[in-house]
Amino acid sequence: MRKNLVAGNWKMNMTYQDGLALVSEITNMVADEATGSTAEVVICPPFPFLHSIGKLLPQGGNIHLGAQNCHQKESGAYTGEVSAKMLQSVGVEYVILGHSERRQYFGETDELLSQKLKAALGAGLKPIFCVGESLETREADETFAYLEKQLKDGLFHLSNEEFDQVTVAYEPIWAIGTGKTATSAQAQEVHAFIREQIARAYDAEAAQNTTILYGGSANAQNARELFSQPDVDGGLIGGASLKSRDFTEIIKSF
Ligand code: G3P
Repeated sequence: MRKNLVAGNWKMNMTYQDGLALVSEITNMVADEATGSTAEVVICPPFPFLHSIGKLLPQGGNIHLGAQNCHQKESGAYTGEVSAKMLQSVGVEYVILGHSERRQYFGETDELLSQKLKAALGAGLKPIFCVGESLETREADETFAYLEKQLKDGLFHLSNEEFDQVTVAYEPIWAIGTGKTATSAQAQEVHAFIREQIARAYDAEAAQNTTILYGGSANAQNARELFSQPDVDGGLIGGASLKSRDFTEIIKSF
């Protein structure tokens, strides 16, 4: 059975000191019995904080460490880049790939993302693969065709075994950081569509077992309603993951 998951994507926010303080607060609030939540939690801080933050996470608990990106090559002369193997060596378990900000500001294509996925999986990381349409695409009524292409070109080249390790995140670009959340009905409609595409590309079992997250202005107020939808298995949280109380409330929505 698929799991529920809440991941916090800090993006390029926080100093090291602020980050340590935030994680200490979250770990205190999220002690399993205190929240009673069934969700697995992933915290995705910026690269320089990963190792130290990993050390703060209780061993064997339900809070895991994730990165926001990785390079597609294993090693070499790629100044300024970080490989999947490096991430794995500092205790990272998950990696976000295909975020719309990476696609938009850093020109990441489906072709490049296919390579990154392979690199992440090769290093034993679990990818959180993001897809999502722009407002223009939604208004042109092309959302499903757009998502179908993103999934096909970016993700569905993986083998069944590889795909088993993947979490999908639906992040409509128009909802990211805008305060304009998708309605629970909009999220459910797209999540069901994504699950259908997975069933087609792999099989019904793979579709049922895949965790599909919603991301885009999810917060402590709307998380419960979003997560109550049958195909919404959790959230990829930006802004609200930077506040311990809000993030913990979101986790408690399960
Ligand atoms: O990856 C998380 C994300 O893009 C959503 O950001 O700030 O709208 O929750 P936010």
